[in-house]
Amino acid sequence: MRKKIVAGNWKMNLTLAQGEQLINDILATGLKLTEGQEVVICTPFPYLTKAKALLKNYQGFYVGAQNCHSEKAGAYTGEVAAEMLKSIDVDYVILGHSERREYFQESNAMLAKKVDQALASGLKPIFCCGEPLEIRQAETQNAYVAKQLEESLYHLTEEQLKDVVIAYEPIWAIGTGLTASAAQAQDMHAFIRSQIAAKYGREAALRISILYGGSAKPGNAEELFACPDVDGGLIGGASLVAADFTAIVSKLG
Ligand code: PGA
Repeated sequence: MRKKIVAGNWKMNLTLAQGEQLINDILATGLKLTEGQEVVICTPFPYLTKAKALLKNYQGFYVGAQNCHSEKAGAYTGEVAAEMLKSIDVDYVILGHSERREYFQESNAMLAKKVDQALASGLKPIFCCGEPLEIRQAETQNAYVAKQLEESLYHLTEEQLKDVVIAYEPIWAIGTGLTASAAQAQDMHAFIRSQIAAKYGREAALRISILYGGSAKPGNAEELFACPDVDGGLIGGASLVAADFTAIVSKLG
């Protein structure tokens, strides 16, 4: 039914040679994806062309960028447009990662525009949402995430939503070693799906892939991926180690 996806987010790590080695090491494990499974490698911008060339002949392997600009083109020195990414055959783009929201002041409204640019160019957004620790402690995470979805995605048509992947990443679990428990992940993923169902209908909700992100590793991936509403993972730290990343992919089931 819906796609199962493991996406690796390299963030601002590795040289080109190290990245190339990592991809070759991942491919050398002979990892085979079954029908409906995808692996997306999200590299820094300068490595996307190389990553695409390395992965091109491997069924189910795709490349993703980690950001794109909210405008189509123009005088935005240092920025990269969605259309540029598409022109080098990039498949996916991570949008709204909590690090972008925090360090680069990306608002829900700005992300709505980035989502539009990505879709208009033919890129599939991996749209990140998730609450900070104080919101989790106050137990208001559902309302917080619902607002992120509403303000950045709900202007889309049901047809456009077909190309969107959602990643739930509780900020308190990113890079901290703290993982949401499988029950916490499942609760939020089911909530997100119910929100999508309320807005777009049951079919759209059943179709959308919702990934978990935040200290996912080989040791907890199986339990997380076994949750009925968890359709894979967005992996940071563990995506930089070929053995860990492939072990996580192998838990997709
Ligand atoms: P982590 O990062 O796996 O290192 O916690 C996840 C992410 O930021 O996407």
